[in-house]
Amino acid sequence: MKLKKAVIPVAGLGTRFLPATKAVPKELLPIIDIPSIQYVVQEAVDSGIQEIIFVTGRGKDAIEDHFDEAPELEQILAERGQTETVEMLRRIVAMTEVVSVRQKKPLGLGHAVLCARDLVGNEPFAVMLADDLIDNDVPCIRQLLEIFEEKQESVVALMEVPQEDVHRYGVIKGSEVKKRLYQVEATVEKPQASQAPSRMAIIGRYILRPEVFAILEKLPAGKGGEIQLTDGLAQLVRERKVFGCEFEGDRYDIGDKFGFVRATVAYALKRPDLKDRVIDYLKSTIQ
Ligand code: UTP
Repeated sequence: MKLKKAVIPVAGLGTRFLPATKAVPKELLPIIDIPSIQYVVQEAVDSGIQEIIFVTGRGKDAIEDHFDEAPELEQILAERGQTETVEMLRRIVAMTEVVSVRQKKPLGLGHAVLCARDLVGNEPFAVMLADDLIDNDVPCIRQLLEIFEEKQESVVALMEVPQEDVHRYGVIKGSEVKKRLYQVEATVEKPQASQAPSRMAIIGRYILRPEVFAILEKLPAGKGGEIQLTDGLAQLVRERKVFGCEFEGDRYDIGDKFGFVRATVAYALKRPDLKDRVIDYLKSTIQ
């Protein structure tokens, strides 16, 4: 079965970035001049995914606007002769087809994914979290897709994290069946370090089979009173095979303030228009 759709949940409140996120969706905070959500949509498009489903909430309309046409703005820019900027804006609109569904209350990531059920239908789909930026020549979700295409089973992205950080993640118990490929035996949401089954954390990229919806529908609230996707995965593992892909790439947790700063510096260093000045600046500030 070919995978065509990616669900990007963007209905969270973004409390760690208040007050910035009081009126601006977290997903539109830019890394330099590109909103973080655009990097994630680009990753999906570069991986051959054709349709993006946003699960949005109150105050998040600007995310859809970002991927929509802006004729008035384009006209003013055209009148000013800024044709390259007009073309750049048009490329964003042409990138992909975007549809959206509302999550009325932020009841958790698992619930957000469930909200996309009707738009996804009875087919496998990707879930991509805009909090995780992953930089690699082969996009992270493409790496997962390659495993899915072979196994036709759900696949989660995995990264080894320090013991002191496991409490921030969903963590798997599993066995490495091939280099960088794990068969998941169990998942635990945000375990204490002493109780974590491993240091392999689930990062915000998933390929899920549609059977997960029936599980999420019945799932009670878990950690933090939220319906957790990791709890849904724990149940899915009992019903079907689930694989883990220890992906290649640099991952930035931009839902975290320091992660956001790291991403900003790293992406600036990749930009020819900024690199030299940023290096000079960093050198001058740490002397
Ligand atoms: P987070 O746990 O990072 O929550 O959600 P958050 O609200 O975005 O940010 P903080 O922790 O309050 O600062 C992980 C992802 O799941 C989405 C978020 O938008 C984010 O992409 N999410 C979370 C939903 O769409 N709905 C929810 O009910 C919860």
